[in-house]
Amino acid sequence: MKKHPLILILALLFVSMPFAQADHHEGEEEETALEEQMSGANKAWRSIRRQIKDPAKNASTLALVAKVKASFTNAVDMTPMLAEERSGEDKEKFVAGFQKAMKRTIGLVGDLEKALKAGDNAKAEEIVAKLNDSRKKGHERFKPEDDD
Ligand code: HEM
Repeated sequence: MKKHPLILILALLFVSMPFAQADHHEGEEEETALEEQMSGANKAWRSIRRQIKDPAKNASTLALVAKVKASFTNAVDMTPMLAEERSGEDKEKFVAGFQKAMKRTIGLVGDLEKALKAGDNAKAEEIVAKLNDSRKKGHERFKPEDDD
């Protein structure tokens, strides 16, 4: 063994690698399809909030808004993980409620687009506040409490 420390290290790496992979694919930290869309929207959302007041950045803000819209349009057809704890009519109602709230949110994103295109940053700011409210309420109703 003394003569081949590199071989030992490589062997250890080789043996531990499948475990690391199994952890990633089967562990609790696997991202749901909905989480993926939400994370994408969140990144753009943070920048939107930072620059919403600045009319000089409206073209860039509009590009970010388009990203949020695309993510939420994908999200509408997805099932929140909390729905899986329910069944039958209860589950259907939960999913329908989620879809309704998500569609309403997409409507607000459309309003935000219009305000920015019209160069009305004061109105755009108001809509951002409404969207923050939608996020808060949507998460209270449809998202597990332990992660944000
Ligand atoms: C500006 C609006 C919003 C932002 C920035 C946002 C952002 C996020 C973020 C960062 C997560 C956590 C993702 C992760 O753990 O990887 C999340 C999860 C989630 N969000 Fe939102 N969200 C918004 C609006 C909404 C709305 C309106 C609803 C419901 C109608 C909603 C429902 C959910 C649900 C259900 C989850 C948990 C994911 C799952 O069940 O698989 N979100 N969101």
